[in-house]
Amino acid sequence: MDKNKVYIFDTTLRDGEQVPGCQLNTIEKIQVAKALEELGVDVIEAGFPISSPGDFNSVVEISKAVTWPTICALTRAVEKDIDVAAEALQYAKHKRIHTGIGTSDSHIRYKFNSTREEIIERAVKAVKYAKKYVEDVEFYAEDAGRTDNEYLARVVEAVIKAGATVVNIPDTTGYCLPAEYGEKIKYLMEHVDGIDNAILSTHCHNDLGMATANTMAGLLNGARQCEVTINGIGERAGNTSLEEVAMIMKCHNDINLHTDINTRKIYPLSRTVSSLMNMPVQANKAIVGRNAFAHSSGIHQDGVLKNVTTYEIIDPKDIGLDDNNIALTARSGHAALKFRLEVLGIKPSKEKLDILYQEFLKLADKKKEVNDDDLLVLAGVERSENQHIKLDYLQVTSGMGVRPVASIGLDIAGEKFEAAASGNGPVDAAIKALKNIIKRNMTIKEFTIQNITKGSDDVGKVHMQVESDGRVYYGFGVNTDIITAAVEAYIDCINKFSK
Ligand code: KIV
Ligand code: ZN
Repeated sequence: MDKNKVYIFDTTLRDGEQVPGCQLNTIEKIQVAKALEELGVDVIEAGFPISSPGDFNSVVEISKAVTWPTICALTRAVEKDIDVAAEALQYAKHKRIHTGIGTSDSHIRYKFNSTREEIIERAVKAVKYAKKYVEDVEFYAEDAGRTDNEYLARVVEAVIKAGATVVNIPDTTGYCLPAEYGEKIKYLMEHVDGIDNAILSTHCHNDLGMATANTMAGLLNGARQCEVTINGIGERAGNTSLEEVAMIMKCHNDINLHTDINTRKIYPLSRTVSSLMNMPVQANKAIVGRNAFAHSSGIHQDGVLKNVTTYEIIDPKDIGLDDNNIALTARSGHAALKFRLEVLGIKPSKEKLDILYQEFLKLADKKKEVNDDDLLVLAGVERSENQHIKLDYLQVTSGMGVRPVASIGLDIAGEKFEAAASGNGPVDAAIKALKNIIKRNMTIKEFTIQNITKGSDDVGKVHMQVESDGRVYYGFGVNTDIITAAVEAYIDCINKFSK
């Protein structure tokens, strides 16, 4: 075994996907899983099968679609969960069950109303039960970050004895300091009998902005697997980002750790995940943010022009950010569009490319230059072509001194409907007109408009949350006309609750 190899366990499709509004359908999950396989991850956590039929189905389909990485399914330390996970994994070429239970005093007392001894018994029982189905069983000690080290060592020893191949030490609440988390891993490496029979894994949340630092501290002290997500997405402040730990290990030869990640695939996959999940990457995000390689101060620009290493520690090509990041225009042909989409990790069929090309031409007519972000949005628009309710047309009159008025046309499963309304603003008028057709109790809970790059000809992205019958639905719209984008986001929500 290569002692310096770090196994990359990607949980974008499980922990990452738990973020409200980031849910993907099965086809989108397969797209991400295949891209993760090409990226070179070792393990893909594909879902929590007992949690919903959708999650179950995704684990089944990802298991069929992917060959090399191990497919992992999450469970609680509950027999029924493990039965369902084993069933979902039936087609996986390499499979792992990830079972576990909370081990901090707070979890033991308030979540389980139990005792430390009873928790060890339940942990051992779950691992033994999972071993009946698969050889590769990972155990997670939830809230290990706040678990007393001596007790944690007893838990880890017991589950390794029961057959766990990997033991996950999650800093579930993102509370640990890097030195503290590193110490924890070191303590386990030094005090657990049989530690050589398993791999310790890091799983660090980013609540205090220390996820990557904690993960690296864990790896430097003996952990050999890290659990990460693309762009660091995940519940609350997110998980450790894959791209950060992969690039740290690539840049720092001095620490002598390596992964099998093909780092040139990082950037396209980052954009794909951001686009599919409607989750913008912050501009100054390490490695994949828009400004990560942009030198704007005069002193920096001067230095970089003289010698790029003066201010750049990473060659942008190493993450797949190519120099020819040229915006397309209305005069660009099919081939240029296809090339650019492929650079971004999108490989459309001939028919899909034709549809996308028509959408691209419409956008290029409105916007002089169509850039990578626009293309990803277009690919997303194409995804929603076969929605039940579609916007046929929208006309809005608004401005200083006039009451905004909107008329709208909807296509509902092929049937045409029209209505008009006025409101206190153009969006209000358009939504009221729409509600004159779809008469249902619906309230907007959140509404954000963002530009993608800059300029008054930019594309506007709208994220919306609409409540209906006590449930909240997330919708997304994109258009150079922000009123249209808002109405499209609203319709996206309606399409979700009328499914
Ligand atoms: O953060 C956490 O503790 C988890 C476990 C379920 C692995 O996600
Ligand atoms: Zn987690």
